[in-house]
Amino acid sequence: MSKKLKVALIGGGQIAEKVHVAYYATRQELELVAVVDSDLTRAQAFAERNGVARFYADAEEMYLAEQPDIVSICTPNKLHCEHVLQALSHGSHVMCEKPPAMTAAEADQMRQAARQAQKVLAYDFHHRFAADTQLLRQQVAAGTLGEVYVTNIQAVRRCGVPGWGVFTDKEQQGGGPLIDIGIHMLDAAMYVLGFPEVSRVSAHMFQKIGNVKRSGQFGSWDPARFTVEDSLFATLELKNGGILRLETSFALNVKPQSVMNVEFCGDKAGATLFPAHIYTDEDGQLLTLCQREKADDARHHKSMQAFVNRVLGEEVDIADAEQGYIIQRLVGALYQAAEEGKSISL
Ligand SMILES: NC(=O)c1ccc[n+]([C@@H]2O[C@H](COP(=O)([O-])OP(=O)(O)OC[C@H]3O[C@@H](n4cnc5c(N)ncnc54)[C@H](O)[C@@H]3O)[C@@H](O)[C@H]2O)c1
Repeated sequence: MSKKLKVALIGGGQIAEKVHVAYYATRQELELVAVVDSDLTRAQAFAERNGVARFYADAEEMYLAEQPDIVSICTPNKLHCEHVLQALSHGSHVMCEKPPAMTAAEADQMRQAARQAQKVLAYDFHHRFAADTQLLRQQVAAGTLGEVYVTNIQAVRRCGVPGWGVFTDKEQQGGGPLIDIGIHMLDAAMYVLGFPEVSRVSAHMFQKIGNVKRSGQFGSWDPARFTVEDSLFATLELKNGGILRLETSFALNVKPQSVMNVEFCGDKAGATLFPAHIYTDEDGQLLTLCQREKADDARHHKSMQAFVNRVLGEEVDIADAEQGYIIQRLVGALYQAAEEGKSISL
């Protein structure tokens, strides 16, 4: 067998453990050489729990000592750009957690750096790797839905303010539910639609609950330091005449505890993403054209798999740096529209 590729992780938090290291450990072609966390005790505990050979508090020191082929960036959003540029400058292929960055300018810099370094840069927009999303992408491309002119995107939680990490800190994260969970469903919707061009966006955002309540479904937080929006509602106008409507929240007085889904309305048929269901109407009756029993839960695994396979030279689709830039630009425009109270042309 050829030499194993060396893998390092930057940020030893929950996503690095649950998803990244858990996947890498399943691949015989890979060797887990290092984890870096600014909290050295955390890095050590992470390394011991997950069979990672060495741990560091300083990334530069790690790169010089280990020269990893593959790096996962699992730090807070504010550090993604700096950490991705650093990894690329050391010649590593990179899987970066979502969102790509804090701003479109950063995501632009990251895609240019990946191009220059001729390395793979993938973002962990894992919902597009679900069998459901893949099926709908094929069916939309094949014309089963006809012209899709309205898409409803929901990433809504009733009481789901994250109680860990820095998710309520605008300075560290760049925003709240839009940049954290709304971005996932926005990416899935754009992917299914084949990345249509957006001409204009408008948005409203609120901070009504997160700065008052202090606990919910995902633990507790300090309301005095809740500096992000707790809900955001937006319309994105497409150049092809269609619209995307987006609703996202960490906290909102709605009945369901959580909805992460997209609905596509075409002139021939409609579809729901999770689980994939394509339907139309005949003589007033709902008629199913195609349906998956259950939403695909292996999507995170498939996102990691696509990245590793691409690094190994396979021509598989990844959520690449170019698409990451497009999504980041939309998120930035939505925040700008909400802050300025006016629609933004792209
Ligand atoms: N794809 C998904 O569905 C998904 C889910 C959860 C989180 N995420 C993303 O993953 C990222 C991390 O989230 P998390 O939930 O794992 O948070 P976390 O707080 O559990 O982990 C972040 C880790 O980064 C470390 N860190 C902070 N500054 C550092 C630095 N300068 N150098 C090295 N390490 C540093 C922290 O000590 C911490 O251990 C975020 O960008 C988040 O949006 C993605």
